[in-house]
Amino acid sequence: MPHILAIESSCDETAAAVCRDGIILSNIIASQKIHEEYGGVVPELASRAHLQAIVPVVDSALKKANVSLDQIDAFAFTQAPGLIGALLVGTEFAKSLSLACNKPLIAVHHMQAHVLANCIQSPDKKNQIPAFPFLCLTVSGGHTQIVLCEDYLKMEVIGQTLDDAAGEAFDKSAKILGLPYPGGPLIDKYARNGNAERYQFPEPKIDGLNFSFSGLKTAILYFVRDEKIKNENFVEENMTDICASIQSRIVSILLNKLKKAAHKTGIKNICIAGGVSANKGLRNAFEKMGIDEGWKTFIPAFEYCTDNAAMIAITGYYKYEAGIFADLSVVPSARAVF
Ligand code: KG4
Ligand code: ZN
Repeated sequence: MPHILAIESSCDETAAAVCRDGIILSNIIASQKIHEEYGGVVPELASRAHLQAIVPVVDSALKKANVSLDQIDAFAFTQAPGLIGALLVGTEFAKSLSLACNKPLIAVHHMQAHVLANCIQSPDKKNQIPAFPFLCLTVSGGHTQIVLCEDYLKMEVIGQTLDDAAGEAFDKSAKILGLPYPGGPLIDKYARNGNAERYQFPEPKIDGLNFSFSGLKTAILYFVRDEKIKNENFVEENMTDICASIQSRIVSILLNKLKKAAHKTGIKNICIAGGVSANKGLRNAFEKMGIDEGWKTFIPAFEYCTDNAAMIAITGYYKYEAGIFADLSVVPSARAVF
């Protein structure tokens, strides 16, 4: 019955979670509001905010789980990828706990953890988790990947973005529309009341299973610029339809490649993960495609889609069971493939 304390600090969320035998007991997230006024994450401010939040966040996670520090069997932390200064805070904190408590350390890859968010079981174990092999479309602020998963720790990226990530496409489009950072959830909100057929944005022609979003961003930029010349209130007057049209194009780019990957591999257990999997339009279209294609579809619980430490804890748990530990010489890495 191992207890694992997990820490996530790769970007602008300071998070800690405790799991017992793979069941999440607590999942605490402190989101850094400071970046809103800058229109994006400022790395140095993120590191400082992690330093301020990490002790109370870890403390809350232990209290909520009703577990004491001496009951923890291993300390898991996000080692890569992410902002290096932000990763350093979580890494050094986990290393200090490991040294002080004389318990092993587990280094976790953030993108692998996003995928395994689909394998988190609810305490009553009633939710379905995907059987292997499965495909996962991981869509976050920094990554867009199609991952082939043969086992908890055996994953291969079979498609990825060549430029912007899907989350970036949402956030940069929102910025063009004058919306604050992070714009993804706002586009989602406006899109719910909009007509997605109203404006047609281009779908890039990229071979294979890779993605590209930079052309779409440029098309939106020029479209808004041209329309504003004709009517300076164009964006405000048509916000819901613009957001619905942008969202619908991002979703179709993502799902058309996912369908292609499913046909190519013959796999029918399909998951989505990452911050953009919180998007209502993507969730609905994914489930509809699942019915049309005869897939078994999986979406993590809402709180496990955007950055969180529960996904680090579950990955830590599978590494613990496999006996994969790090030693105190481990260092974070801004970029690392798995
Ligand atoms: O996975 P995540 O929390 O952090 C990274 O690892 O990057 O993903 C953050 C991204 C941001 O780009 C944010 O705008 C996007 O996820 N996002 C959304 C929604 N919620 C978060 N995008 C569209 N619709 C949403 N509801
Ligand atoms: Zn993430």
